[in-house]
Amino acid sequence: MRFAPFGTQYTSEPAETWQRILAGGHAVSHDPELGLWLITGHDTVRGVLADTTRFSNAATLAPVMPVSAEAGHVLAAFDAPAVTTTADGPQHARIRAVLRGIFPTTAARAELAWGALVARRADQLAGDIAAAEATDLMPAAIRFSLHVITDVLVLPTDQAGDLHAWTDAFARLVWAHHPETQVDDAHEALALWHLCSDTVTARAQAGGGYGPGVIGDLLRYRGGDDARLSVPEAAAIVLTIAGAGWETTAGALGHALEHALIEPGRWTRLGYDEHALATHVEETLRHSPAIDGWLRVTTTDVDVDGTLIPAGSRCLLLIGAANHDPAQFAQPRVFNPGRARLGQHLAFGAGAHYCIGAALARLELSTALRTLARRLPALALAGGYRRQYKPSVALRQHTTMPATTGGGPDRHSAPAARP
Ligand code: HEM
Repeated sequence: MRFAPFGTQYTSEPAETWQRILAGGHAVSHDPELGLWLITGHDTVRGVLADTTRFSNAATLAPVMPVSAEAGHVLAAFDAPAVTTTADGPQHARIRAVLRGIFPTTAARAELAWGALVARRADQLAGDIAAAEATDLMPAAIRFSLHVITDVLVLPTDQAGDLHAWTDAFARLVWAHHPETQVDDAHEALALWHLCSDTVTARAQAGGGYGPGVIGDLLRYRGGDDARLSVPEAAAIVLTIAGAGWETTAGALGHALEHALIEPGRWTRLGYDEHALATHVEETLRHSPAIDGWLRVTTTDVDVDGTLIPAGSRCLLLIGAANHDPAQFAQPRVFNPGRARLGQHLAFGAGAHYCIGAALARLELSTALRTLARRLPALALAGGYRRQYKPSVALRQHTTMPATTGGGPDRHSAPAARP
C-alpha cells in the first residue's frame, strides 16, 4: 500500500492509512518514493524510540524531502548546535540534565510554575471566541499556545507574530513538501534561529541576574561555564521550545476541541468533571497525537522484527499507527476516554527523548478546555464542518475549525460548581 502523507486522504483521515498498514502485518516497510523506512506497531515504535544507540536523532530536523540547491545554500548558515531532539549520546545526556534542572516536569510543579499564566491566557482565549457569534477555533488555539510559550520563555508578546510565521515556515520545510516556497521558508527558518540566538545572547551579555522565565533559568544554570552549557546551546534549546512548545499544543487543542464538540453531551461535562477532563485529554493524545510521525536515522544495520534496515537509513516512526495498534488498544478508531491502558499511548515519545513539555502540554489542554466549556456552553462546530489537516509527515494540525458560539452569554461569572 502506498503511503502518501501529503495527499488528500492522509490530510483528512490519516487513521485509515495507519489501519491499512497495521492490517498488512508488517511493522517495518520501505517506501522507495519517499526514501523512508516506515515503522508501525505499538511495541516496535516504542522499542525504536527508546533505542538511542542504533537509531540516532541527528537528522530529526533535516528536511524529509529534498530541497533545492538555493534553499540548501540558505540553510547552510543555520548553525544551531545539536541539542534536545537533534542530539545523541553524552551531548544529549548533558542537555537533558539542563532541561531536567530547570523545567517543571510533574503536574504539581507545572501548575505551580505556570498555572496562573496559563489560566490568564485561557481567559483571554474564551474572551476572543465569545466576542463573535461565528469564529474559527484554530487561529484562537494558535494564539493561546503562542502566548503561553512567549510567557514561559519570557519573549515579548509582540514577537508572537514572527514566531508564528517563522515556525510554520520551518515546519513546512522540514516535514512537508512545498518546492514553491522552499527558499522563503529557509530564510524564515534562519530568521527564527537568529531571533532565538540574538535574544539569548543579549540577555547573557546584559547580566544582572539574566531576568525571568526559561531564558533566564538557562543562563543562570550556565553560570558563565561553556562546558556546562554554552550560549549557542542555550539559544538552540530556546529554538526547540519556541517551536515544539506551541505547534504541538495548538494542534492538540484543535483535536481535543473537535472530539469534545463533535459528540453531543461531551462538551459541558468538561467544565465541571475533572476525571472526564483528564481522560478526554489523554484519549485525545492517543487517538489524535499532535505529532504522529517522527524521524530517526540508523547508525548501523539493524534487524527490526525480522527486517534488515541498512545503516544510514531514515526511518519514519508512525506514532499515530502505534497509538492505533489494535493489539494494544481495542477498537482504536473509536474515541473512548474510558478505555483500558490509556496511559500506554506514545504521543510524547518514549525513553531518553520523552517530551520534556508533557506536563505543560497537559496543563494547557485541561485549562483551556475547562475554561471554554464553562464560559461557552453553547459552543458548536459550524454546520457542514469538514476535517482538514496541514500536510506534514510529523505535525497533525487542523487548517481551520469554523464554529458558532450560540450567541448565548459568555458565562464568565458562572459558579465554579455545576449549578
Ligand atoms: C501535545 C503537545 C506535545 C506533543 C504531542 C509533543 C510530542 C513530543 C515527542 C513525540 C517528543 C519526542 C521526540 C523524540 O523522541 O525525539 C517530544 C520531545 C520534546 N518536546 Fe514535546 N510535545 C508536546 C509539547 C511540548 C511542549 C509544550 C514543549 C516545551 C515547552 C515541548 C518540548 C519538547 C522538547 C524540548 C523535546 C525534546 C526532548 C529531548 O530530546 O530530550 N513539547 N515532544
